[in-house]
Amino acid sequence: MTTLKVGVIGVGGIAGTHMPGWAASPHTEVIAGSDISQDAVDTWAAKWGVAQTSTDSADLINNPDIDIIDICTPNNYHTPLAIAALEAGKHVICEKPLAPTEKIFKT
Ligand SMILES: NC(=O)c1ccc[n+]([C@@H]2O[C@H](COP(=O)([O-])OP(=O)(O)OC[C@H]3O[C@@H](n4cnc5c(N)ncnc54)[C@H](O)[C@@H]3O)[C@@H](O)[C@H]2O)c1
Repeated sequence: MTTLKVGVIGVGGIAGTHMPGWAASPHTEVIAGSDISQDAVDTWAAKWGVAQTSTDSADLINNPDIDIIDICTPNNYHTPLAIAALEAGKHVICEKPLAPTEKIFKT
């Protein structure tokens, strides 16, 4: 069975809640994680057996092996990361809220 490969950006509290769901699905495999904290991503990767880590979210967004980006950062980063991932052709799961205010969507 082909599995969709997942990269998680921001590996704090809510990412720990997402991980059992990803692990339970026969259709997904988390293959990479990114966090601005090296310690946080190392600890998370060891706990969940994830081989690829980075402190630069672009490494995941530009990784052609990744199908789904799971955004679990603080709110201010949701919109730019979601747009970058979508523009890279990824499926995106984004924690709420998508943006801090509605104004970010207006041009
Ligand atoms: N914790 C919850 O129960 C809960 C519930 C619902 C929604 N959320 C949402 O989940 C999001 C994250 O909340 P949390 O509680 O997991 O926060 P957290 O502080 O526990 O984790 C956030 C992680 O993101 C990392 N990070 C910060 N900026 C980053 C960046 N630019 N790139 C990559 N990593 C970055 C931090 O180092 C940290 O490890 C928030 O949007 C929050 O609203 C959380």
